[in-house]
Amino acid sequence: MNTRVLTGITTSGTPHLGNYVGAIRPAVEASRRADVDAFYFLADYHALIKCEDADRIARSRLEIAATWLACGLDPASVTFYRQSDVPEIPELCWMLTCVTAKGLMNRAHAYKASVDQNTAKGVDDDDGVTMGLFSYPVLMAADILLFNAHKVPVGRDQLQHLEMARDIAQRFNSQFGRGRDYFVLPEAVISEDVAVLPGLDGRKMSKSYNNTVPLFEGGARGLKSAIARIVTDSRGPGEPKDPDNSHLYLIYRAFAKPEQAALFRSELIAGLGWGDAKRMLCELVEAELEPMRDHYEDLIAHPPRIEEILQAGAHKARSVATPFIHELRDAVGLRALVGGAAAVSGKGQAAKSVREARFVSFRDDAGQFRFRLLSPAGEEILCSVGFADPKEAGKIMGRLKSSQGDVDDLVQIQGETGFSVALDGVVIAVGAACDTAQARDRLVAALRAALT
Ligand code: TRP
Repeated sequence: MNTRVLTGITTSGTPHLGNYVGAIRPAVEASRRADVDAFYFLADYHALIKCEDADRIARSRLEIAATWLACGLDPASVTFYRQSDVPEIPELCWMLTCVTAKGLMNRAHAYKASVDQNTAKGVDDDDGVTMGLFSYPVLMAADILLFNAHKVPVGRDQLQHLEMARDIAQRFNSQFGRGRDYFVLPEAVISEDVAVLPGLDGRKMSKSYNNTVPLFEGGARGLKSAIARIVTDSRGPGEPKDPDNSHLYLIYRAFAKPEQAALFRSELIAGLGWGDAKRMLCELVEAELEPMRDHYEDLIAHPPRIEEILQAGAHKARSVATPFIHELRDAVGLRALVGGAAAVSGKGQAAKSVREARFVSFRDDAGQFRFRLLSPAGEEILCSVGFADPKEAGKIMGRLKSSQGDVDDLVQIQGETGFSVALDGVVIAVGAACDTAQARDRLVAALRAALT
């Protein structure tokens, strides 16, 4: 089965070499694996939390989309979309907000860090803290859970958010699932072998330290002048350098083949001057970036092309999200007032919703799509076989629902206590396990009642 891998990229800055090495390059590589279904999205609602500059956000969405495409992301094989084009995300966010303990959010690192800073400044704890910042882990949980992602590649700073997403998923499952796990519990993936790139000053390359080397913006000249500003020690040409204490070397290594890096290392030890070292670094990085930069500039000059790709991506994402949000709405009780399990009939029963048998779809451990039929009391009547294609599972479920009177033609009694259900002679579901023939007969009766 394919693993669903999902990650979000906050659109509040201009991509730099650290983003490329630490996130973009490995994610694009992962997306090419045959056993991976990648969902990569621009987390532009998240960007609103940190950035009040509307033009900056708009520009960043464009730059980041162009960057990922230029770096080789293939929108045909990946679901690449913008968060704000998928209204099911904020809708799910609200449902999750309503099952999330406030105490859980109180413990979020990002929020606590703001409180600590406020305490240190002697101002009110919540000074400058918006509800966006406070409840940001819930939005992130919605991003992940809506697509039932198995794996979520993130930086170490996001680990806590993944734990919170699991916690929130479990609460929802147990509160509304009635035996069904609506949400897969996602796992964080932190790769140990991906370099954390140092910036110009040797601290982690980060927009907040203002020590970045831009990836494409500024062109080849911008790259060269940023590399010229990398801080080195004062040893002159001919004096041996210490590669292990040189962030220039670490940046070089992130782009070099192992033999190349070893050679560069020995040259530094042998006294290579910093000026020459920077020239070599520049050539190495430029060789990898140049072809992509051409593509980037072409894309940036044609925003409608990017827009079209993102719209197609949103369409793909919503083909998964829309049916799922309907099931979730149903689960929490936001149901149509006519027909189906929602109907609340008669004055006398106004307060009590009428429970009916219901179908619930789910994905099994092997990634196959299945559905169950539950009795009005929530007892399992039958469970379908696994389908590779969710649409196929939906179609079969639809046929069963509309089979009405002819239930007896579909049911095949199996041995003493079992039964199965077949359509066109093919078994599509198996009755729940029973201890006795009477129990089995009761389930068959419940099936008949459910379908008529
Ligand atoms: N919060 C993440 C970050 O700052 C970005 C993000 C938003 C994300 N939603 C996500 C990452 C969902 C993974 C999954 O890096």
